[in-house]
Amino acid sequence: MCGIVGYIGPREATEIVVGGLQRLEYRGYDSAGVAIYDPAAGLQLRRSIGKLGNLLQRIGREPTVGCLGLGHTRWATHGGVTEENAHPHRDASGSIVVIQNGIVENYLELKANMLADGHHFVSQTDTEVIAHLVGHYYQRTGSLEAAVRQAVAELRGGNALVALCIHEPDRLVAARLGNAGGVVIGLGAGETFVASDVPAILDHTRSLLFLEDHELAVITREGAQLSKLDGTPVSRQPVTMSWDPVAAARGDFKHFMQKEIHEQPRALTDVLRGRIDQDAGSVHLEDLRLDDAALRQVGRIYATACGTAWHAALVAKFMIESLARVRVEVDYASEFRYREPVLGADALLLAFTQSGETVDTLAAMEEARNQGVPSIAIVNAIGSQAARVADGGPLYLHAGPEIGVASTKAFTSMLVAAYLFALRLGQARGTLTAAQIRIALQALVELPGKAATVIERAVPVCEALAERYHRVSNALFLGRQANYPIALEGALKLKEISYIHAEGYPAGEMKHGPIALIDEDLPVICIAPRDHIYAKMLSNIEQVRARHGQVLAIGTDGDDQLAAKADRVILVPATIPLLQPVLTVIPLQIFAYAMALRRGCDVDQPRNLAKSVTVE
Ligand code: AGP
Repeated sequence: MCGIVGYIGPREATEIVVGGLQRLEYRGYDSAGVAIYDPAAGLQLRRSIGKLGNLLQRIGREPTVGCLGLGHTRWATHGGVTEENAHPHRDASGSIVVIQNGIVENYLELKANMLADGHHFVSQTDTEVIAHLVGHYYQRTGSLEAAVRQAVAELRGGNALVALCIHEPDRLVAARLGNAGGVVIGLGAGETFVASDVPAILDHTRSLLFLEDHELAVITREGAQLSKLDGTPVSRQPVTMSWDPVAAARGDFKHFMQKEIHEQPRALTDVLRGRIDQDAGSVHLEDLRLDDAALRQVGRIYATACGTAWHAALVAKFMIESLARVRVEVDYASEFRYREPVLGADALLLAFTQSGETVDTLAAMEEARNQGVPSIAIVNAIGSQAARVADGGPLYLHAGPEIGVASTKAFTSMLVAAYLFALRLGQARGTLTAAQIRIALQALVELPGKAATVIERAVPVCEALAERYHRVSNALFLGRQANYPIALEGALKLKEISYIHAEGYPAGEMKHGPIALIDEDLPVICIAPRDHIYAKMLSNIEQVRARHGQVLAIGTDGDDQLAAKADRVILVPATIPLLQPVLTVIPLQIFAYAMALRRGCDVDQPRNLAKSVTVE
């Protein structure tokens, strides 16, 4: 969850490290810190609690100099939000500093042993234990590389770390253990960068090396030497990243979330690019490693993910079962990994993940691999861990970097990617004719334009709604069938950025409990497109109205009946029913954004959250 950046080269490290942290602040913003080394000035540590701005002010007052350095932005796991607990952490001698992303599961045991050996700790963090451990082995070996190797061998859990030692100013040493966090190394001309995520270093280089689980890198100005933790050398070619760093900047928008909502028409175009042939009525997914024969063998699919991505998986179930006639089971990745699932020889795992680094989703993929089941990652972050370990291939969203903690464009792109996959599966299995695929593709190509219409319409209405409703404490979201996950998603968006308690429910379930909540103060957001259960949805709306609930409805164009029943209505263009969720969710994103803004909440960095969840 935390963000990590390191630099070695001819330039001032502070600027590069802090610039990288600014790109990564979405990963955690409880505290931040840097350690910069210069032979004359020595090791300079600056740390501050709160947002990165506090650290910048501190550095402004107490500048740092040097061409070797590292920095960290923290999402607290062990120990409260204090300056002592902020990274980087020092070893006992003060000559080694370490930053870490992840959790050391056995840190109490390690700490107890070191306390017994006379070590003194100034923080409550597990990372300080790593720093002391590295220091301990450095005393014995006189080599930072050897010390990190030996220290990491004692850790349990998942970690990504970078260490700097003032006695070896020609290098940084990074290591990765497990799936808790990525490490990417950026290769420049006479300078090298290291980070937890690609956007931190994209301004400087596009030539990247990704560290795999149980690997270590010695990073110098000339590049990086990779090896396994057991010392076996690793040879890997760098990959070239195509992301545009400008796409990761906020531009004229007030928030990344707002920018990403508005980018959806473009993202919905990019996810289709090069993948559809409207004349032939066929879908081609370039990175998929499963051919027609393999796709025909698939007898059941397990779709797994966390949070918003899990909602995308729920919608995907409707798409795949309807178009390809394959049974789909949807699991929270955090549950799937521990429930000893019986997958079966004809199974396929579909992992949905924006970041490709969510630890539970990666563990679910590992569980599938252990059972000999192939997995496909529907993933946004290029070169991420999920994309790399998906033996069935990644299905990239190509949505560009998503920085706002609340996922928006990645969600709608996931829905379209899942729909493409369902078409591809149906095509291979013969459940769809070319004529049927042609109709579906026509709907897909019309989707970006319709999304743009929704955004244009929803923004002013949602601003007015926020004015009226921003003081509520609760909200209920209702939907049916493929729009039930959209009700869940609308509730999650509102919760995470505006801190209003919200629940998403299948509308038919309302009368089995939640109806007791309804009174004149409760906004009930009803997703009611004209589909095969529209009449049922209207009955549910009547039930809300009968109890004086405030009905805010999302419907489809021309629906005067719905408009007459609801207190407020947003109409979206109609599309084919399985794609309608792509359009019905957009007003809910905009509603959550407007509510959060009106309540004065920090939209891009909501409290307690982080963009990539790399701890359990
Ligand atoms: C989205 O708004 C959330 N912040 C969160 O639920 C997110 O979708 C979840 O953590 C999964 O992340 P991933 O897609 O990167 O795996």
